[in-house]
Amino acid sequence: MKKEFIDPWGSELPADYQKLIKSFGLERFKLEDFPKPNKIMRRGVVFAGRGLDIITKAIKEKKKFYCLTGMMPSSDKIHLGNKLVIDNVKYFQDMGAETYVLIADLEAAATRGVSIEEARKRAMDYFIPAYIALGLNPGKTKFYFQSQNKSVVALAFELSNKATLNEYRAIYGQPTPSRIMGSVLQVADILYPQLKEEIPGVIPVGIDQDPHIRLARDIAKRAKDKRNFFLPSSIYHKYTPALDGSLKMSKSTGNFIELPDTDENIKTKIMKALTGGRKTLEEQKRLGGQPEKDMVYELFKQHLIESDKEFEKRWQDNKAGKLTSKEDKEYAVELMIKFMHDFKKKFEKAKKTKIQFLEE
Ligand code: TRP
Repeated sequence: MKKEFIDPWGSELPADYQKLIKSFGLERFKLEDFPKPNKIMRRGVVFAGRGLDIITKAIKEKKKFYCLTGMMPSSDKIHLGNKLVIDNVKYFQDMGAETYVLIADLEAAATRGVSIEEARKRAMDYFIPAYIALGLNPGKTKFYFQSQNKSVVALAFELSNKATLNEYRAIYGQPTPSRIMGSVLQVADILYPQLKEEIPGVIPVGIDQDPHIRLARDIAKRAKDKRNFFLPSSIYHKYTPALDGSLKMSKSTGNFIELPDTDENIKTKIMKALTGGRKTLEEQKRLGGQPEKDMVYELFKQHLIESDKEFEKRWQDNKAGKLTSKEDKEYAVELMIKFMHDFKKKFEKAKKTKIQFLEE
């Protein structure tokens, strides 16, 4: 049997999220613990995490905590699936978290061969404004480049002393020097805010990053002789599936919606999406649609329809055969174009915003 890894570098991913929770010992996400949950929390898109109790406690008791995530500028643009991380970062930012977003330029240099200069350019011209356009508050977000943050690099060296090669093998399957460097650095990113202040932190990431989180938690435990770290908490969301129904949107398949994408592309891509519609109109009316298998409904659920009431009604109408796939698609195109125009406007504005970078 193939050994199960969640491979942070791989493109193949396990489809059964419940199974994932079991086999990796994740905590199920408990909606009732989170005040004013966002729509991806309410709709089961956020499905698991680690150590979330201390975070919900901090929120309820209005104690300090931080939220940190990072991105590797390995491509020139992000797609709709990447937006989910920002939805969660924004949630915690709105709940009062000190927010850190880092550009993993050293990791990209080590694991993807992207030069530091190129990474910087992509971050400045695109990634950071895009993240602001998706809802991060630029005045309340601390941005940094790994290559500019000496404290992070120094911490990575210090913490490398707490990991073993066997542990790397168990977690990653095939560790290479560049992967090891990238992940020790990521552990340092995750714990870095605690150098200044001993407060708990939550790391919103895609489930593929869980190996790094496990490693960070193990290392935080082992570093207790010198440093009093809280074990970092994490929160995971499902993927936005590709429009053809495969597990996740990805650059390599072409089945994704880019940020921004043109009206024309949006139309062509959504009109071709896999739906749960029946073969004929007669069957659609008689048997009803299958929104649970419908990629257009995934777009509604994850990204396009804010109101639960509207979403729920549409789902029921589709199931009852009152809506055709064509009608659903046309509505999705309309909403997506609206979303994209709004994104572009905010993106242009964000490009003119002055960003303060942490340099240490
Ligand atoms: N490894 C992440 C990626 O593949 C980027 C990253 C670096 C990161 N440091 C981090 C993510 C810390 C979360 C927390 O994009």
